Amino acid sequence: MDIYAALKTVRSVRQYRDEPVDDAIINRIIEAGRWAGSAKNTQPWQYILVKRRETLAQLSTYGGYASHLRNAAFAILVITEEAARAEFDAGRTIQNMLLAAWADGVGSCVVSLGQDSGVKPLLGIPDQYKVQQAVAFGYPAPNVVPTVEGKPLKEVLAALGRKPLNELLHTETWQGRAPGPAGEQG
Ligand SMILES: Cc1cc2nc3c(=O)[nH]c(=O)nc-3n(C[C@H](O)[C@H](O)[C@H](O)COP(=O)(O)O)c2cc1C
Repeated sequence: MDIYAALKTVRSVRQYRDEPVDDAIINRIIEAGRWAGSAKNTQPWQYILVKRRETLAQLSTYGGYASHLRNAAFAILVITEEAARAEFDAGRTIQNMLLAAWADGVGSCVVSLGQDSGVKPLLGIPDQYKVQQAVAFGYPAPNVVPTVEGKPLKEVLAALGRKPLNELLHTETWQGRAPGPAGEQG
C-alpha cells in the first residue's frame, strides 16, 4: 500500500475477526516500530508482545476504554525508560506499527491503561519503567458498525473526522491566516 494511502485510511479498529495473525506479520510490525527515529536516537522503548487470551482479557479491564483488548489477536505494550521526550518517541514507534499493520490488512487501536492498574505486576515490568500505551491488533471484523465500549463513536470521541486545515494552519506567524494549501474537510 502506498504510504499516503495508508496514512489517510488507517483508522482505529476495535472489533476483530477471530483469526490469528501470522508471526511473520507480527515481526514486520515490530520491526517497523523498532526503526522509528527518537530523540538523539535513544530508542527508549521496550515492547511486550501479548497473545495469551487470559492476559489480554485481564489487560482489557485496566483502562476505561480498553475492552477491545479482550478480542484482539495480540497486543503490543510500549514501555519506556526515563528519557527526555520518551512520550514523543513512544508515539513515533507506535505510529510506525499502526501503519505497518494496516499495510498488511491488520487493524489496530491504541489503548490507554491506568498506570496503577495492575499492568506492571501482571507483566512483571520493573517499577522504573513507564507503560506508555498498549496497542490492540487484529483483522477487522467485517460489516460491523464501529463502536467504543459498545457505544456509537460519536457519543465518546471528540470528533469522527479531522479538523479542517483552515482551523489549524498558520502561515508564517500565529496571526497569519492567509490561505495555505487546500485541505480536505472531514
Ligand atoms: C494517546 C492515545 C490514546 C488512546 N487511547 C485510546 C483508548 O484508551 N481506547 C480507545 O478505544 N481508543 C484510544 N485511542 C484511539 C483514539 O480514540 C483515536 O485514534 C481517535 O479517536 C481518532 O480516531 P481514528 O484513529 O479512527 O482516526 C487513543 C489514541 C491515542 C493517540
